[in-house]
Amino acid sequence: MSSRPESGKRSLRSDAWYAGEDRNAYIHRAWMRRGVPGSAFEGRPQIAIANTASDLTPCNSHLGEVAKSVRDGVYEAGGIPLELPVVSLGETLVRPTAMLWRNMAAMATEEMLRANPIDGVVLLGGCDKTIPALLMAAASVDLPAVVVPGGPMLTGTFRGTPLGCGTDVWRLSEEVRAGTLSQEDFLTSESATIRSRGHCNTMGTASTMGLLAEALGMVIPGVAGTPAPDSRLLESAHATGRLAVELVAADRRPSEVLTRGSFHNAVVALAAIGGSTNAVVHLLAIAGRLGVELTLEDIDRIGADVPLLVDLQPAGRFLMEDLHRAGGLLAVLREVRDLLDPTAITIDGRPLVDHLETARIWDREVIRTRDEPLLVEGGIAVLRGNLAPQGAVIKPAAASPHLLQHRGRAVVFDSIEDFHARVDDPDLEIDADSVMVLRGCGPRGYPGMPEVANLPLPTKLLRLGVRDVVRICDGRMSGTAYGTVVLHVAPEAAAGGPLALVRTGDWIELDVPGRRLSLEVPDAELAARVPSEATTAAYAAPRRGWERLYVDHVLQADTGADLDFLVGGSGDQVSRESH
Ligand code: FES
Repeated sequence: MSSRPESGKRSLRSDAWYAGEDRNAYIHRAWMRRGVPGSAFEGRPQIAIANTASDLTPCNSHLGEVAKSVRDGVYEAGGIPLELPVVSLGETLVRPTAMLWRNMAAMATEEMLRANPIDGVVLLGGCDKTIPALLMAAASVDLPAVVVPGGPMLTGTFRGTPLGCGTDVWRLSEEVRAGTLSQEDFLTSESATIRSRGHCNTMGTASTMGLLAEALGMVIPGVAGTPAPDSRLLESAHATGRLAVELVAADRRPSEVLTRGSFHNAVVALAAIGGSTNAVVHLLAIAGRLGVELTLEDIDRIGADVPLLVDLQPAGRFLMEDLHRAGGLLAVLREVRDLLDPTAITIDGRPLVDHLETARIWDREVIRTRDEPLLVEGGIAVLRGNLAPQGAVIKPAAASPHLLQHRGRAVVFDSIEDFHARVDDPDLEIDADSVMVLRGCGPRGYPGMPEVANLPLPTKLLRLGVRDVVRICDGRMSGTAYGTVVLHVAPEAAAGGPLALVRTGDWIELDVPGRRLSLEVPDAELAARVPSEATTAAYAAPRRGWERLYVDHVLQADTGADLDFLVGGSGDQVSRESH
């Protein structure tokens, strides 16, 4: 019996490969038969499963099983599932930083979707850069697409205490350096940190981007945040496979879902969940692929009125398994429903706000109500001033309140290597009021804009009980990290930004409520300064391959650090045949 869907009645993109009786159609079908019947090529949507599973991306290594459930759903709905392994990025392993490769993963995925006889795609991601790269690709090729986030790992415990991956690694390693935890105990905790399959269980970048993919409308509502080992994830994957076939029939493409309204909702969600600062760069890049106007100021303005409702590490106490148990993203968004754009739809064609009716908070410790927020303002603040003319960001929820307005003398490091060489030098002149400046870590300078901005404090400060000082960097910070850290300074030092001109001993003023970041050096003196050689050396170093292409074309953080020639989209058409 044929289970051909309604979509069989309308012509499919893949017909350009498979329909007809000429030599080329013969070739395309013949090579793809391999056990499938000829009816597989007669009006049945060809659904790619873009899979970032990889043994070298441990957070995504279970996605093969998820893909099987997607396959079943696609087949059941009358489509043909086609697994498409795509570039995978493991945050903890890839050097010099996974961010260097985000745009490459996006470009390769986009091109393979466009080049192949695909009518729609299910995107499987998890670890930090994978979902942003997949969404950037889907936006640029604009074929019907839907995401299954791979989900967080279960909560690990060490000696009775829950361990948040990332956040607790930073905390425990600082405790070792402060002399309050033994090296042996630190190493014993290693095997307890990663309890199961899945990505980091804190509100780091992976958790944030999975949830924001849902807030954007690109995930079946209620699915994001399902822990990776939870059987409901496979059930949702099956349903997503079915939905992908329906998307082709409805011709519902990312450009219909990813509107300014959906980005508005994502920014509201980002603030309410206390999400990663990395989401700022990723949202800007995805919006850039669609021509949706979204600026740093939009992110600050939209998030400013949104309370922080989720008590998760690194800003709070709990972990992703708790958030799911407490009601998940939809329960959070129900609390701020009036701040959402009611017109933005999800991948099922219905407004996101319609899905909030039945959502409930089941644990008010984990998800706070609007009346009792964790913080009144959960948004990410955007700073400007003569030190960051194109902007910089800070996450006040992860910062120390007493440092949000601060004036201190700069202690400058030209590179992360310079920092490591000098941080524990007994002669380093630094105190609790100093402002640590790290440069050479932007998109071009490193290259790739690594997560190094949350500099560990000098041991001599830790021993005095200091746990936070103001830090300023043109790089990024792990979403699992915390501290009063000013990030994404643009333009970066290697692109001629004023950060390159700061000298140790200069006064810097940070004013988060006033959204200012100022270097107290007269303009005339600043104009006379030249960047240190160490700052420009990294950019001048000869490179080849992707690194060369990246350094020559990467944009600054304030617009998403995409490559200039990847902004926008090319659509799904390829006019020329391969034979
Ligand atoms: Fe993959 Fe944290 S290392 S999500």
